[in-house]
Amino acid sequence: MKDRNPTASSIEKQKAGEAAAELVKDGMIVGLGTGSTTAYTIAQLGRRVDEGLDILAVVTSYQSEGLAIEAGIPLTSLAEHQVLDIAIDGADQVDAHFNVIKGGGAAHTREKVVARSAKRFVIVADDSKTSEQLNHYVPIEVLPYAKNLVIRQMKELDGEPKMRLGIRKDGPVISDNGNFIIDVEFGVIEDPAKLSLELSACTGVVEHGIFTGVDDVYIGQKDETVTITSSR
Ligand code: A5P
Repeated sequence: MKDRNPTASSIEKQKAGEAAAELVKDGMIVGLGTGSTTAYTIAQLGRRVDEGLDILAVVTSYQSEGLAIEAGIPLTSLAEHQVLDIAIDGADQVDAHFNVIKGGGAAHTREKVVARSAKRFVIVADDSKTSEQLNHYVPIEVLPYAKNLVIRQMKELDGEPKMRLGIRKDGPVISDNGNFIIDVEFGVIEDPAKLSLELSACTGVVEHGIFTGVDDVYIGQKDETVTITSSR
């Protein structure tokens, strides 16, 4: 999978992604995140399934579905399993208080549904993603019909909204759910939980990329070790 963050060493992502895969045990229902870091988790789980690990997985995107099928991981759905044992996913930025910004790959809506369905939510990332406070732009999935209204509401919240365009720059990115993505700059986010509630209250917002209440964070370091922090 193409790495959208070429400044980060993929070995750091690999170490974090593979380390978190070891949390998965026989009989678990597992949520599989989207992106270049969780691609390593999925590949590692595929190797463990080959060796006899007995799991079922729920994907968060067409991308993770393709990777899981390629890795030979048996799939299920939220219709069949409403509660997952664990979900493992990547991040665009992680702060020191288990808050995360996601959605750089336009998959945060399904990622949040899967994360909230899981008893344990684990983030995997490389060291370039950490920050004392969140200051990354927040991806917002938007109902296309409500695009201009959402842009207006983002400005009312002192954000600087920008439509996310596709690779050819002549049209909007379309999410797996058929919606647009608006990336909004808020500068330093002093209170992620408050902004999360404010964004959720905006009409036309399908879902935003602020995730609070992460259980564990696995960070791959430059020396190839993995730093693990836990909020519980
Ligand atoms: C997908 O929409 C995102 O939430 C990704 O999980 C996040 O952007 C991390 O991606 P990488 O692991 O590729 O950096």
